[in-house]
Amino acid sequence: MSVSQPASYSRAQIFLHWAIALLVFFQLIFGESMGDYGHALRDGTTPDTITFIMGNAHIWSGIAILVLMVARIALRLSHGAPALIPGPKLQETVAKTIHGLFYLLLIAAPLTGLAAWFLRIRPAGEIHELLKPVFIVLIVLHIVGALWHKFVLKDATMQRMLSSKA
Ligand code: HEM
Ligand code: HEM
Repeated sequence: MSVSQPASYSRAQIFLHWAIALLVFFQLIFGESMGDYGHALRDGTTPDTITFIMGNAHIWSGIAILVLMVARIALRLSHGAPALIPGPKLQETVAKTIHGLFYLLLIAAPLTGLAAWFLRIRPAGEIHELLKPVFIVLIVLHIVGALWHKFVLKDATMQRMLSSKA
């Protein structure tokens, strides 16, 4: 599908970037409570209130990420995305690879979580847990990249994920 390349991300795209980022941080920081919730149910014991609340928050936050990602992909297909601010070839390739991997992970994480929880597919749960370190490595690289653009290259990369010209 060919869409003309916009000069900036739209307000909706910027909102979706930060909303999904916040939900992902929540999932990564509190994800282990989901393991405790599952163990309690498997052992036939009643999970304590915090485990119950955090377990359900994990499920609903994960489903919200999936729904918001569908909207994000639809917007990207219809609105497009601004071209990367030109830099060395390697820098552009790394940025594109990390963005592409984020899209894959943000769909794979909720789907494997749902398959593990509702369909009890064990390998899906194992993959789901493996995605955690992958996410962490990518997020660290992504944040270092964003800060590099802001404080070393001093270009507009960070600014365009904060405000829209559209
Ligand atoms: C982008 C969305 C999601 C992210 C980033 C995410 C992340 C995580 C993390 C970090 C853990 C802890 C892994 C560990 O203890 O090593 C976890 C566990 C778990 N998550 Fe998710 N999750 C997401 C969506 C979901 C969804 C939608 C469900 C569906 C119910 C789900 C079900 C589970 C289950 C069942 C576990 C426990 C796995 C186990 O200990 O056997 N997750 N998740
Ligand atoms: C879980 C957290 C995050 C995820 C999954 C994520 C994902 C992404 C993705 C996929 C893009 C490509 C644009 C798009 O297709 O929408 C992007 C762009 C961007 N992100 Fe993040 N991001 C996260 C957190 C952050 C944080 C914490 C910062 C700032 C420190 C940040 C700064 C940026 C910037 C500045 C861009 C624009 C890059 C450009 O267009 O050249 N992101 N992010």
